[in-house]
Amino acid sequence: MMEIDESIPHLRRYKDGKQLIVDGKPFIILGGEVHNSSSSSLTYMEPIWPRLASLGLNTVLLPVTWELIEPKEGGFDFSLVDGLIEGARKYGLKVIFLWFGTWKNAVSSYTPEWVKTDLERFPRAQDSIGRRLDAITCFSKNALEADSRAFKTLMKHIREVDRERHTVIMVQVENEVGILGASRDHHPLAEECFDQDVPEELIEYLRINEERLNPYLRCIWRREKDSGTWRELFGVGADEVFMAWHFARFVDNVAAAGKSEYPIPMYVNAWLGPSAYMYEEGKPGEYPSGGPVSRMLEVWCAATHHIDTIAPDIYREDFCSVCDEYARLGNPLFIPETVRDERSASYVFHALGRYNAIGFSPFGIDDIIEPEKHPLTDSYKVLSSMIPLITRYQNTGRMIGFVDDGSYGYTHTVSMWRVRMRVRGFLCKLGGYRLQVSFAKELAERAKMIWPGFPYEGRTPAAGLIIAVDDDTYIAVGMNFLLRFLPLDGFSSSVEILWVDEGIFKDGEWVRGRRLNGDETGHGSWVYFEDKPRIRMIKVHSYT
Ligand code: DGJ
Repeated sequence: MMEIDESIPHLRRYKDGKQLIVDGKPFIILGGEVHNSSSSSLTYMEPIWPRLASLGLNTVLLPVTWELIEPKEGGFDFSLVDGLIEGARKYGLKVIFLWFGTWKNAVSSYTPEWVKTDLERFPRAQDSIGRRLDAITCFSKNALEADSRAFKTLMKHIREVDRERHTVIMVQVENEVGILGASRDHHPLAEECFDQDVPEELIEYLRINEERLNPYLRCIWRREKDSGTWRELFGVGADEVFMAWHFARFVDNVAAAGKSEYPIPMYVNAWLGPSAYMYEEGKPGEYPSGGPVSRMLEVWCAATHHIDTIAPDIYREDFCSVCDEYARLGNPLFIPETVRDERSASYVFHALGRYNAIGFSPFGIDDIIEPEKHPLTDSYKVLSSMIPLITRYQNTGRMIGFVDDGSYGYTHTVSMWRVRMRVRGFLCKLGGYRLQVSFAKELAERAKMIWPGFPYEGRTPAAGLIIAVDDDTYIAVGMNFLLRFLPLDGFSSSVEILWVDEGIFKDGEWVRGRRLNGDETGHGSWVYFEDKPRIRMIKVHSYT
């Protein structure tokens, strides 16, 4: 790993994990990624900037494409890059550039014309019967050299224009790499490598991390052998492991070239494949083979030294399990792409609270035309005021996050305003108490039938983030859940809420609003979080 320059954006070790540091302070990306083509025109971006700012974003993810910065070989044009940085500065936003270089979504559609049309110099990957695929082969040294040179020149330019201001805080290297249409590349250059021995570095990584390997890799790896070819060591899974290693090496080399000019954090994003933890259909090649899917995370970690995190693009329903699969092996969680509907407003609490995520970013953010009506705006505004607090508790074990992504079963019966029913939720220990979190949508729907004035909208899935600032004092934020406190062992004492204050954080300081000790909290029995996220500070005590 390279030495870290602490004066520019970087990741630093903090407690049991890592934090993103920007302008000398811990930072959380409350982001949004624009559509692929939006940032290719400054004019097109003009009406988008104010909408992004109104959404409460602190960071925007913007593609920068190889074809537009190097239209002629060796002739660079950074006017677009400069215009995007300027636009972001005007609206107080940070930027993550997405380098659409040799690959974007497993094909090479963003390479310049002079690359795309020269199939001799930049050969395509081939399928098992020798047909050329849409993607340039990752075994092409020419492609690696040309891509690295372009990326290095881009990073040099960013350093020159942004070294003091830190508007650009991170860069994504390529986009959703891997090959489609074949489980591995059959170009002659690839065939030659496939028959060679697996690099010792990979075997060593697997041995060191043997206890924590994902079940899929554990199953295909023939650990009794110390050396051998890809087929000999990984049997039926050889094609994908082989491609993962070589894609990772290529991408790492590109990142290294960029970091040699300006070493800000760099990451790769993943087109998700089947889960590594349960049997799921899906063959490499139907999803990008060799991409950083969760079951290849170990291979990517072993092969890369200039990539700071491997980030999942989560469009699947099982948001929580995907987070779980990527927050392993010391990989800081960043979600660069996810749905932009009302679920995004809830998912962000889970990512930040449960996984100490360094960032979150729905895709196609420029489609949100009325930010004031979108629930993500409410979530981002409240969370951005809490960044100093959240980052203080990252990786300390004193913070939880959750979202009802449909995967929780019914756990307990609760009653609120004489409505009693069995609800979904969970119990967990935090601070000096056991917390009972009940997803309150069904309960609130029922209550609304009885009391039509009941404040219930229920647009967003139940979600929250809770911090134990002390053993008996909590700060909680979120929506559509009911929170109760129980003794740690469940029986030995009675627990009551001493007080609940609503409030806001201003410049990092708590500013108290109403005290809620009457109807709003069942006179100190529970704390109810409505559809709009609000922050509450709660103190509890117990007696026998
Ligand atoms: C994932 C890609 O990474 C994005 O660039 C975009 O193409 C989306 N898919 C579209 O849903």
